[in-house]
Amino acid sequence: MTSRLLAISDLHVGHPQNRELIAGIPAGEDGDWLLVAGDVAENFADIEWALSVLAGRYERVIWVPGNHELWSRRADPVAARGVQRYELLVQMCQGLGVITPEDRYPVWASPEGPVTIAPLFVGYDYSFRPDGALTKDDGLAIAYESGIVCSDEVHLYPDPYPSREAWCWARVAATEQRLAAELDPALPVVLVNHYPLVREPTRIMRYPQFAQWCGTDRTADWHIRFRAAAVVYGHLHIPRVTWHDGVRFEEVSVGYPREWQARAERFGLTRAPGLPWPVIPAEDHAPAPPGVPEGLRL
Ligand SMILES: [Fe+2]
Ligand SMILES: [Fe+2]
Repeated sequence: MTSRLLAISDLHVGHPQNRELIAGIPAGEDGDWLLVAGDVAENFADIEWALSVLAGRYERVIWVPGNHELWSRRADPVAARGVQRYELLVQMCQGLGVITPEDRYPVWASPEGPVTIAPLFVGYDYSFRPDGALTKDDGLAIAYESGIVCSDEVHLYPDPYPSREAWCWARVAATEQRLAAELDPALPVVLVNHYPLVREPTRIMRYPQFAQWCGTDRTADWHIRFRAAAVVYGHLHIPRVTWHDGVRFEEVSVGYPREWQARAERFGLTRAPGLPWPVIPAEDHAPAPPGVPEGLRL
């Protein structure tokens, strides 16, 4: 059996049906690696449970945080906020042998040669603004007026940064430096991030005003600059493949139960819900059918 690079995101195992899906995920073969592109859950204990299940089933698991892991809510006994919470998550991953954006970029031995995997944590900065908004405040005003506002505004603290965008910009600057310094230019690289690195995949969202919580313009050329063989992301809950400048972008979200159930009903069970997507070797993906179900509470 040829070893595979697989990917999944937006497991949201706080939902019992999603927890069941992840509990039933088949074990990989020797040499299979699994990328987990964020939104495993909100509660620390649920995140740890899911990552430990996955770490027991794949040779290597590589995780990047989504916005949900970074929420600090009263229901979670782990009360840390912002950077401190992220550091606790990284520590927990290290205890499980799971690779994070803080580790050296690992190299996966694909059947066709080595591939660098770069797990990224770069956040969003409200630069994917809705039409008519010139500033972050304009964008937020449009969102609040329509009632479509990301729960991050309540639960995702940037401490000790003054704002979520300041945290994002610091991460972008540090990550850019690392990618430039550490990537071997001779090897293909797979970039993994919770948010799409380019804005285009957000254009089909049902609520365009939600895009401001979905990434940053500052990563728009990373797939070219860092010679990506593929980009893996989640967050939008619109699993599909798109191509940008000849680079394959794969959204690998499971999403909420009502989303994956609706998908299965509308399009038939072409693949079992909760089954990781093959990134390498790639499957022949058909273009997304028109009217593909879109995410709402991302
Ligand atoms: Fe999600
Ligand atoms: Fe998300």
